[in-house]
Amino acid sequence: MTGGRELVMVSNRLPVDRVVNEDGSTSWRTSPGGLVTAVEPIVEQLGCLWVGWAGSADERVDPFEIGSMRLAPVELSEEDVELYYEGFSNGTLWPLYHDVIAQPEYHREWWDRYRQVNRRFAERVAQEAAEDAIVWVHDYQLQLVPALLRQLRPDLTIAFFLHIPFPPSRLFAQLPWRKRIVEGLLGADVIGFQQVTDAVAFRMTAERFTRAPALGNTVVVPATADRPSRTVLAQEFPISIDAAAFAAVAERPEVRRRAQEIREELGNPKTLMLGIDRLDYTKGIRHRLKAYNELLADGEIDAADIVFVQVATPSRERVEAYRQLRDEVEVTVGRINGEHGAIGRAPLVYLHRGYQRDEMVALYLAADVLLVTPLRDGMNLVAKEYAACRVDEQGVLVLSEFAGAADELRDALLVNPHDIEGLKAAIVRAAHMPKEEQRRRMHSLRRAVHHNDVSHWAAGYLGAVQAAAESRQVGPSG
Ligand code: ADP
Ligand code: G6P
Repeated sequence: MTGGRELVMVSNRLPVDRVVNEDGSTSWRTSPGGLVTAVEPIVEQLGCLWVGWAGSADERVDPFEIGSMRLAPVELSEEDVELYYEGFSNGTLWPLYHDVIAQPEYHREWWDRYRQVNRRFAERVAQEAAEDAIVWVHDYQLQLVPALLRQLRPDLTIAFFLHIPFPPSRLFAQLPWRKRIVEGLLGADVIGFQQVTDAVAFRMTAERFTRAPALGNTVVVPATADRPSRTVLAQEFPISIDAAAFAAVAERPEVRRRAQEIREELGNPKTLMLGIDRLDYTKGIRHRLKAYNELLADGEIDAADIVFVQVATPSRERVEAYRQLRDEVEVTVGRINGEHGAIGRAPLVYLHRGYQRDEMVALYLAADVLLVTPLRDGMNLVAKEYAACRVDEQGVLVLSEFAGAADELRDALLVNPHDIEGLKAAIVRAAHMPKEEQRRRMHSLRRAVHHNDVSHWAAGYLGAVQAAAESRQVGPSG
C-alpha cells in the first residue's frame, strides 16, 4: 500500500501511553480514543516509524519498538502540555471544530506554543524519515506540520487525516489564525476527512482564506516566485474498524460467558442499556441522562426492568470544561440512583475507567440497547464496534444524526440528541423492539461495517496517497 516507501505516522500521542505503576515500575497502555483503534491494525500489518508524545510531561523516553512499529517519542514539557495540548488543541480547536458546543478560547500564548510544538514534531520527522518516505500526519493537534515538513523535506509525500469534523467556514472564521492553519494543512499532498460535509467545508474555507481555488475534490495552491502550483486532494475517507477482529473476539466462548455473567451481576434486567464514551462534552452524556431520568420519573420505563451502564473513559481531566462535565455527570448519576434506586438495585451504573478489549466486547454482547448520542462526532467507532460484535444479529443501536457514523449506519434508530422527547421515544422503542426488527436492522448495520472496514478505508486513503507519491516522481503537477 506504500509502494515500498517507508511509512511514518505522526500523531500527538503515540499509540501507547507510558504509565507509572503503584510499585514505581513503568509499563505501556493503549492510548485512548478512536484514532488508535482505527490506525493500529493498519500499521501492525505494514510496519512504520511512529513519531508522537508518550503521554507524560517532562519525561525523556528513548526510542523503542513494539512488534513492527518503531516508536520515536517527542518530549513535551509541563508548559507545552498546558499551552499546546490542553490550551490550543483542546481549549481552542476541539470546541471550535465541534460546533462550538463549549466556548472556544483564543489566547495568543496558546497559539505561539502550538506553532512551536508543531515545529518540533516536523523537525523530528524531518530528521528520522527515510528518503521519499510517506508521512501520515494525524489530527487537529498537528495541522501546521504538513507545510513545515514540506519546507524541510521536499522529497516526502505528505498525507494528513483529520479524525474530527472540519467546521463550517462561518465558524472557522472566528479563529484569529485561520489563514495559517489552512496554509499548514495545504502543505499536504492528500487531506482526508471523515465526511463529505467536512471536505466541502475545507475546500470552501481554503478558497475563502487563502485564495486557493477548489477544483472538484482538490484545492489548487497557486504558484509563487520560487514554487510551481500544486494540487492537493481534499476528500472524505470515512474511517472504520477491524470488524472481523471484533467479531472474532465476540465469538470466543469465554467472552460470551462473560457477557452472560455481566447480565447476571446486574440482576438479569429485562433491558440492559449501555453507553461507552470518553467523558467529553461532545458525546451528549448529559442529554442522555436527562432523557433516562425523565423516563424513570414519568413511569414510562420501570426501574425494576432496566439497568443503564454508562462507561465514561477519563479524558483531558485538567481542562476546565471536562472537569465541569465530570462534576455534573457524577451529581446527576447520584441523583438518578437516589431517586429511582432501591436496596440492592441501581438503575444507573457509572464506570469511570478504561477496559481491555475483551471486556468491552462482552459489554457490547450483554447490551440490548447501545446509546450513541453525541452532539457532534467526527465518526464514532463505538457504534461500529457494537455492530461488528453482534454476530447474533440482536441488539438495537440508537445513534445521533450528528455522528459521522450516521452516514453509513442508516438502519440505526437515528435521533437528534437535543430533542429530549425524541430521544425518550427512541429509548422506549429500542427497549421494546421485536426480535425480528432487531435482526433486520442489525443485519444491515453489520453489512455496512463489514463493507467499509478498516482495510477498505486504508486501501482507499493510502491508495490516494500512493498515487500522489507516484505523480510527484513524475514531476510537480499544475
Ligand atoms: P473518540 O475517538 O472521540 O474517543 P470513538 O468512539 O471514535 O470516540 O473511539 C473511541 C475508542 O475508544 C473506541 O475504539 C472504544 O472502544 C475505545 N474506548 C472507549 N471507552 C473505552 C474504555 N473505557 N476502555 C477501553 N476502550 C475504550
Ligand atoms: C480523539 C481524537 C484523538 C485523541 C483522542 C484521545 O479520538 O481525535 O486525536 O488522541 O480523542 O484524546 P487525548 O486528548 O487523550 O489524546
